[in-house]
Amino acid sequence: MQELADKIDLLKKEIENVTLQSETEIEEYRIRFLGSKGLVKQLMSEMKHVSSDLKKDFGARLNEFKLFAESKYEDYKSSKGTSQNNAGKKPKESSADLTLPGYPAEVGSRHPIQLTMNKMISIFEKIGFSVAEGPEIEDDWHNFTALNLPEDHPARDMQDTFYISKNPDWLLRTHTSSVQVRVMKEGKLPIRQIFPGRVYRNETISARAHCVFHQIEGLYIDEKVSFADLKQTLYYFVKEMFGGDVKVRFRPSYFPFTEPSAEMDVSCFICDSKGCNVCKHTGWVEILGCGMVHPNVLSNCGIDAEKYTGFAWGMGVERTTMMQYGIKDIRLLSENDTRFLAQFKSVV
Ligand code: DAH
Repeated sequence: MQELADKIDLLKKEIENVTLQSETEIEEYRIRFLGSKGLVKQLMSEMKHVSSDLKKDFGARLNEFKLFAESKYEDYKSSKGTSQNNAGKKPKESSADLTLPGYPAEVGSRHPIQLTMNKMISIFEKIGFSVAEGPEIEDDWHNFTALNLPEDHPARDMQDTFYISKNPDWLLRTHTSSVQVRVMKEGKLPIRQIFPGRVYRNETISARAHCVFHQIEGLYIDEKVSFADLKQTLYYFVKEMFGGDVKVRFRPSYFPFTEPSAEMDVSCFICDSKGCNVCKHTGWVEILGCGMVHPNVLSNCGIDAEKYTGFAWGMGVERTTMMQYGIKDIRLLSENDTRFLAQFKSVV
């Protein structure tokens, strides 16, 4: 027994003094001490020769030795040869020059759509409009019926709709006008809000059209709101957005949710109204639809149409963005090509 105890002490010393530098040395250590025919196993097999009164004491020593041998191995394995025994050694020379300046962090850029939306929003905020948002997955009532478009109304065909197959009452909103309905239903008057957001239409994608795009809708409801208020609000917007030289015209139009309705054009500043692809050689570009909120819409949303009047408008963000930055293909706005997006780094 003494012999065995001395052997354990000796091996312990050996392990204490060992320095393993390479993966091969670590592996050799494992095989010598911890392998299936290694020293720990050999000592274990000696147990059967130990008399039963000493078994407990010897077993404890042996176990302690086994844990010691294992922990040494684990240390080396995790630090690949730089355990305590190497602590005093000089670390290998690194090839990295730590005095060199770091790589500059790449700064992202705002998306041109967001830049245009931010500009539009801040223009309306200056005259007291606040921002509200609504869901992109809508139900039929908020997107159509409440807006004076009951089922089977032919004007539903003006907007090709993506329906959700699981439940045909759900759809991807075709316009942000659905948020008007939600705000009116809340019933807090007067309302002076804008609703920016993404909308969806089942349209063929081309350089001029996309099935996903953005709108900013506006709504103003109070007592005695008139068409003159609508015109002044939108004149102000155009002046701030495009500059004082841009001309504006209103054309009568039809929307089921407004009466009377109009579309507003601005003079094409790409070609100075001389005629180009953007204005389809007319000198004018349509930027929004608008009108006085239809009394049916007010009543559908629980507002007293005898007491209150209001105006609303909805405008596309993509076309304005394309005009502002001279972008010729709408698809560029959703392809996330960083070569395109990086051009907007300097714009805030
Ligand atoms: N919702 C219309 C569309 O997407 C745009 C619009 C027209 C909104 C007139 C309005 C409005 O609020 O008054 O085509």
